[in-house]
Amino acid sequence: MTAKELRQKYFAFFESKGHKLIPNVSLIPENDPSALFISAGMHPLVPYLLGETHPLGKRLVSIQRCLRTGDIDEIGDAVHHTLFEMLGNWSFGDYFKKEMIPWSLEFLTSDKYLGLVKEKLAVTVFAGDEDAQFDQESYDIWQGLGIYNTRIAKLPKKNNWWGPAGQTGPCGPDTEMFFWVGKEKAPETFNPDDPQWVEIWNDVFMEFNKKEDGTYVPLKQKNVDTGFGMERNLAVVNGLDDDYKTELFWPIIVKLQELSSKKYEENLADFRIIADHLRGAVILINDGVEPNNKQQGYVLRRLIRRAAIRMRKLEIDPMVVVFPIIEAVISIFIDEQSLSENIQRISEVLSKEFKAFSQTINFGMKILQTEININGKTAFDLYQSYGFPLEITLELLKEKDSEIDLNQIKKEYEEEFLKHQEKSRTSSAGMFKGGLTEQSETATKYHTATHLLQAALRKVLGEEIRQKGSNITSERLRFDFSYPEKLPPEQLSEVEKIVNDQIAKNLEVKKEVMDFERAVKSGALTVPNEHYPEKVKVYSIGTFSVEVCGGPHVDFTGSLRRLKIIKEESAGSGIRRIYAVLK
Ligand code: ALA
Repeated sequence: MTAKELRQKYFAFFESKGHKLIPNVSLIPENDPSALFISAGMHPLVPYLLGETHPLGKRLVSIQRCLRTGDIDEIGDAVHHTLFEMLGNWSFGDYFKKEMIPWSLEFLTSDKYLGLVKEKLAVTVFAGDEDAQFDQESYDIWQGLGIYNTRIAKLPKKNNWWGPAGQTGPCGPDTEMFFWVGKEKAPETFNPDDPQWVEIWNDVFMEFNKKEDGTYVPLKQKNVDTGFGMERNLAVVNGLDDDYKTELFWPIIVKLQELSSKKYEENLADFRIIADHLRGAVILINDGVEPNNKQQGYVLRRLIRRAAIRMRKLEIDPMVVVFPIIEAVISIFIDEQSLSENIQRISEVLSKEFKAFSQTINFGMKILQTEININGKTAFDLYQSYGFPLEITLELLKEKDSEIDLNQIKKEYEEEFLKHQEKSRTSSAGMFKGGLTEQSETATKYHTATHLLQAALRKVLGEEIRQKGSNITSERLRFDFSYPEKLPPEQLSEVEKIVNDQIAKNLEVKKEVMDFERAVKSGALTVPNEHYPEKVKVYSIGTFSVEVCGGPHVDFTGSLRRLKIIKEESAGSGIRRIYAVLK
């Protein structure tokens, strides 16, 4: 089965159950300061899981690219990836367990769809704890569908609970489906720890909202949120034991074999890391990220550098790889037109980063070759600063001095690593502090303020200006727009004054759902190059601003109090950037 067929089958199935398709969104979350990347299909849908109405209704389906950096160090085996496609479907307070579980079984086993053998399926359900009870209902439904007791494992929250995405927000028990990929007959009793049982689908029953104080309160509506990993499932339906052998990676592997004259089978981890990381890097750059030392840019930089180290090991010149790899990624994500449009920019960003890195890497090699006292800390610094994996450092050290105590270095390295992990955990916990719901109130205000700012800029600078980017944290808004020159202070004060006048008028913010075409015809502003679904929400603020937007927004502008522009700067050629705060 091809990837295209698998995606089509998924859609066709859920369309037949009344679902509407929503488009893939950028990996960079819009208006959500609590996470660096979209890490699940539900992520852009949090407001609807909390009760907002979605313009396309209560049943949605999507293919969403997701990025998970949590297990970046595990990449190299057959089933882990940083970037992956998640097929998902949602019910916002509509159907629940007794519909979703039989549908999952039907999609997996019906010959019209995946045609997997039911005898090779096993499932897990939530065992229950002090916060929520055992998921008896899911257990009974699976049993009623002919899944034997010995193939249903009851597991704790650690395994069978999903969400919230931040520290607070929608979450609930889940039931996960596993498929036996072993060569032997599937054992009667399911052991979830046996890697021959591969997890293929996750149905989450989001019926709780986790609050700031750690308690779980029932949501107004009971939701379904599912995630079906494309790469893994394509491998499973094709009887492959390695996701990298599917068409979603294989074109990259083929190019790497050609360019290195080495065999994939003899260098599994190196090939997989390069393929995974560069595939992710190309998509990240396409979604607007540039390598740097902050947040998303730093993750991109790490992916590129880690790939470069492996290429060096395989004696592949990264500069030669750039174009063939981008072409391979385009052939994998054939439906993503923007990739071909951005090919020039993607190749420039990648080449520049590879070039800069080859200088640092030479520098790192020199340190290894000249430094006399290499210890675990040096090895860790090399990893941290240059992305040198420990195993490469150890190899080089051994070449240099065969007597060296590698175990000692490894031990010291691991101590440093743990220390660092503690530190970064604390700082990423800081990032999630407050979680989606608590922060959403402030973010909502900044979101409405952004609309006012754009309308005011158009009044002062002319209607031609176009939104180029928007980013909101709980502290400020940032707005990028096309304009050729620096804004003098008088113009900035004028813009500020116009916005504050609209706030003072306490204008009502109204929402209307309509066809995208009608919205555009009626003059509502859109963001250039953004993909919009057929039906959209249009937010108008009095008669001052009308924009197509997902929301949410405040009800009246008065709650914004006062806007202050704190900075105006260039954000690239022909693009200006404004930072503003609400006080
Ligand atoms: N949100 C769920 C997951 O990512 C479906 O597994």
